[in-house]
Amino acid sequence: MKALIGVSLLAITLFPLAAPLPEAPSGFDNKTNGLVDDATHAADQAKFDETEAISDGLGPLYNAQSCRECHQNPTSGGSSQVSELRVGHIGQRGEFVNPDIPIARGTEIIKGRSLVNDRAICPNTAFPSTEIQERVPDSEKIRTIRISLNVLGDGFVEAVSDHTFVDLAKEQCKKNHNKICGQVLYVPIVEAPGQTAVGRFGWKDQQASLLSFSADAYLNENPMTSPVPTASPTSTTSPASCAPPKHPPATHNWHRLPMRAMALNYSTKLAATFAMSKHL
Ligand code: HEC
Repeated sequence: MKALIGVSLLAITLFPLAAPLPEAPSGFDNKTNGLVDDATHAADQAKFDETEAISDGLGPLYNAQSCRECHQNPTSGGSSQVSELRVGHIGQRGEFVNPDIPIARGTEIIKGRSLVNDRAICPNTAFPSTEIQERVPDSEKIRTIRISLNVLGDGFVEAVSDHTFVDLAKEQCKKNHNKICGQVLYVPIVEAPGQTAVGRFGWKDQQASLLSFSADAYLNENPMTSPVPTASPTSTTSPASCAPPKHPPATHNWHRLPMRAMALNYSTKLAATFAMSKHL
């Protein structure tokens, strides 16, 4: 009897360790991942969906008026067909060099960024003869597009510890006998100056946190002043020849939608279709 009680106690003690972790909630029904209530999630989504106008401080160079313009399929936060353009050229030592893009009939040069904005607010009524649309010069032979990514479920990716990514890379290397090895990249955390973490967002894993990524998006996609310290519009997106109206830093909750949304709906049926398509 004593032994039986002992075994049961052992089983009770071990059970929490052995119990599999629950799957992340998934779906495309605009629901929270459980971190906040649905009403708060809906309010965050409204910020993500908000359309910015010149009167809100949009521009002068920008890509779209709202996060949702590019992250929308099949619902707000998803991916889309909208792509972004990055260009540059090879330097004398074989290195990648950012482009110099003349605007305003050559009177200003956009430097130090490979992203080329697709849209501009000038010329307009206030600046009828200012022509600031970016155009890729012939010198920029490296040209590539990046397609819009899905952000649903990214909150779960942010929660993964750096160690897990490091271990995954090591494990992959070991399994493949050093043939395929994941590359761990440490990148600065924009909102925590001086600190780095394993990059996990973007095509090149260029950002480690959702606040960093979203502040970057807010600066580069729909350029607006952002409360994140090092991510305020610079001369690169605010050419002097087409000065935008001045605005206090926005307190938008754009970064909270990716953080609090449910993960992608990954059904077993979809997985089967994918497995089949690999044999075609
Ligand atoms: C003009 C289209 C466009 C707009 C507008 C846009 N994005 Fe993106 N977004 C992209 C593209 C393209 C990527 C992939 C970029 C890359 O890695 O080079 C991306 C990636 C992201 C990612 C990383 C996703 C991942 O899992 O790696 C987040 C987070 C994100 N965007 C949030 C936002 C937020 C918040 C806004 C609004 C402030 C916004 N985006 C506005 C096109 C856009």
